[in-house]
Amino acid sequence: ASLLVLHGPNLNLLGTREPDTYGHTTLDDINAELRQRAAAAGHRLDILQSNAEYQLVDRIHAAAADGTDFIIINPAAFTHTSVALRDALLGTAIPFIEVHLSNVHAREAFRHHSYFSDIASGVILGLGAQGYYLALEAVFSRLGD
Ligand code: DQA
Repeated sequence: ASLLVLHGPNLNLLGTREPDTYGHTTLDDINAELRQRAAAAGHRLDILQSNAEYQLVDRIHAAAADGTDFIIINPAAFTHTSVALRDALLGTAIPFIEVHLSNVHAREAFRHHSYFSDIASGVILGLGAQGYYLALEAVFSRLGD
């Protein structure tokens, strides 16, 4: 199958960004692990990190055209702000899992609301980088592997 991982703003700073909250694993480390696991399971995996909302919206639109079967997305700060990204996912109807490294519910009140959780297939949060790998496992089982 064709899988897409989307990382939102500031996740390019992982490893050095607030390590007490987000850990020491870099985005390259996470992406390498995801690529290796997807390849081992025989799936295609594309990954995009962007700090620009429109690039994430455009990539979701492209995913509808390129036959993407499942999306894993950490919308980062856009989680709490982006009706545009929510509408892009609703508009393409591609199933997705929402991932957060930190436990957003143990943090500031403005992080408690997500524009994605009510329309996600599932949500994983608070487990650090492992959350992405667990999301990938969940996608595999939903695809019937
Ligand atoms: C985050 C949580 C968001 O509140 C924050 O804006 C991020 C990262 C996480 O993975 O824990 O940038 O999505």
